[in-house]
Amino acid sequence: MPFPIHRPRRLRASERLRSLVRETRLDPAQFILPLFACPGEGVRREIGAMPGNYQLSVDEIVTECAELKRLGIGGTILFGLPESKDDQASGAYADDGIVQRAIGAIRREVPGLLVVTDVCNCEYTSHGHCGYIRPGDRDGVVDNDVTLDWLAKTAVSHARAGADMVAPSDMMDGRVAAIRRALDGNGFSNVPIMSYAAKFASVFYGPFREAAESTPQFGDRRSYQMDPANGREAMHEIALDLEEGADIIMVKPAMPYLDLIAAARRRWDVPIAAYQVSGEYSMIVAAARNGWLDHDRAMMESLTGIARAGASIILTYFAKPAARLLG
Ligand code: PBG
Repeated sequence: MPFPIHRPRRLRASERLRSLVRETRLDPAQFILPLFACPGEGVRREIGAMPGNYQLSVDEIVTECAELKRLGIGGTILFGLPESKDDQASGAYADDGIVQRAIGAIRREVPGLLVVTDVCNCEYTSHGHCGYIRPGDRDGVVDNDVTLDWLAKTAVSHARAGADMVAPSDMMDGRVAAIRRALDGNGFSNVPIMSYAAKFASVFYGPFREAAESTPQFGDRRSYQMDPANGREAMHEIALDLEEGADIIMVKPAMPYLDLIAAARRRWDVPIAAYQVSGEYSMIVAAARNGWLDHDRAMMESLTGIARAGASIILTYFAKPAARLLG
C-alpha cells in the first residue's frame, strides 16, 4: 500500500489551497513607516546605511506622507533632526521644533494619515543620550526624573501640534505615567500612548543612529535599555508600562525577540507592536544587493514572522515596498 499523503501536504497542492489555509496575512494598514524630519527645504538626503530611506525636510515629508496614504499604509512615526542640540534637549519640546512643524504640515496637507511621534531626547542632546546627564558625568547615567519632565513636555507639544499618538522610546522609569498625567492635564486624554515597553540595548540600532545623528558621544545606553539576555525582565517592563497606562506595547527590535512578542501576545489582550529596526532592514537590503538573498521574499518572510509571532502593528522601513507588493 502506498504511503498515504498526509493532510497538510494535500492542502499545499495549489496556491488557491495554500491561500485558503494561510494563517497570517499582512495588510499595509498594519505598517508604520519611520520618517526623519530635518531642517531646510527640498532636502532629500539618503541615509548611507539605510538605502531607500532619507532625511527629509518638512515639505518632502509631506510628499512622502501623501504616498503613504495612497498606498494604504497605517501611518508614520516621526523622528527629528533639530537645527542645533544642547544639554537640555530643548529642540525636543519647542513648539516650533522640527517634529512639531512636520506634524502641522502633515495635518494640513495629508489629512487622515495617522501621525505617531517618537518621544525621546537622544536626537536633541549634545551628547546623544536619551536624557539629562549631570555635567562631568562621563558614564552616561541619565537623571531619570529631570528627563521625565522633558518627555512630558515633548509629548504635550506633539499632541498640541496634532499628533494622533505618542510613542516614548527612552526607557526612563515612570515615563508612561508622567506622559499620561501631562497629556490628561492639558486636555489630551484622547491621545493614546504606544510605549516602547521592551526595548533592548541592541547593536541593530546602528544604522538608525547615523540616520538620526544620535550616537552617544561617550558611554552607551546599557544603563537604561534592556539586556538582550533577559526575557522575564521584558515581561516585567511590559507589565509596568500597562499599569502606568500604556495603550499599545512595543517590542524592539523584532526578529531577535520573537519569543517575547509571542509571550506577550499570550499574556495580554492589548495591541502589540513590533519595531523591525534599522539593522534588521539594512541586513536584508545589503544581502540582497550582494545577490545573496531575494529582497522581496526576505522582506515578506521577515514581516510575516513578526506578525505570526503576535504583533498586529509593525514599524518597518519596508512599509512602502511591502505595501506595493501586497497591493
Ligand atoms: C531613540 C530611538 C532609537 C531607535 C528608535 N528610537 C535609537 C536608540 O535607542 O539608540 C532605533 C530604531 C532603529 O534602529 O530603527 N531612543
